[in-house]
Amino acid sequence: MQTTEPSSSIVYRKPTPGDAGAVWRLVKESGALDANSAYCYMLLFLHFAETCLIAEREGRIQGFVTAYVPPTDSRALFVWQIAVAPEARGRGVAKALLRRLLELPAGRRAERLEATVSPNNALSRRLFEALARDRGAPCETIAGEGFAAEAFPEQGHEAEPLLRIRLKPDH
Ligand SMILES: CC(C)(COP(=O)(O)OP(=O)(O)OC[C@H]1O[C@@H](n2cnc3c(N)ncnc32)[C@H](O)[C@@H]1OP(=O)(O)O)[C@@H](O)C(=O)NCCC(=O)NCCS
Repeated sequence: MQTTEPSSSIVYRKPTPGDAGAVWRLVKESGALDANSAYCYMLLFLHFAETCLIAEREGRIQGFVTAYVPPTDSRALFVWQIAVAPEARGRGVAKALLRRLLELPAGRRAERLEATVSPNNALSRRLFEALARDRGAPCETIAGEGFAAEAFPEQGHEAEPLLRIRLKPDH
């Protein structure tokens, strides 16, 4: 699948393991995300490409989202990381990545979109709240779920509580 936003020259497409290096660099340069190895992105783009997307302009990666369906919870779609290059921010690229993620087969099946968001990451929270608002869906932080600050080995790492957007009514 490869689609282009009508209002820009950004192409949204599935990743391949060959994109791992550029995504790894983007994450490193974002400063706001946990650094993972490039190998981690190679694995994701090999095994979870159906639930990840790249935003690209003229062959340069401008943003990406990585997500997966948790093996223990097939009704959820868990968004692991999303980032947009500093020069492309504030133009709706992240929201388009999430919107398009939800248009993929796994996104259409999902009843809940979940992510963990640290309380100080206001931009990330704003992004998920904007997505929820556009869909007329509630966006809640689930107390006691996600990861506590003490779970992280690094000193001073913030807690990452679970954020949940209900995509379909409960049944
Ligand atoms: C968070 C991030 C992905 C947002 O990307 P983006 O493409 O700039 O976001 P969008 O343009 O799609 O905007 C999404 C919403 O946030 C708002 N927003 C974006 N940047 C903003 C800013 N600097 N100030 C205030 N609001 C802002 C937008 O207005 C929009 O809300 P709206 O629909 O109500 O207007 C980007 O800032 C980033 O890469 N940050 C570093 C990595 C990170 O923190 N990732 C999230 C954790 S996994």
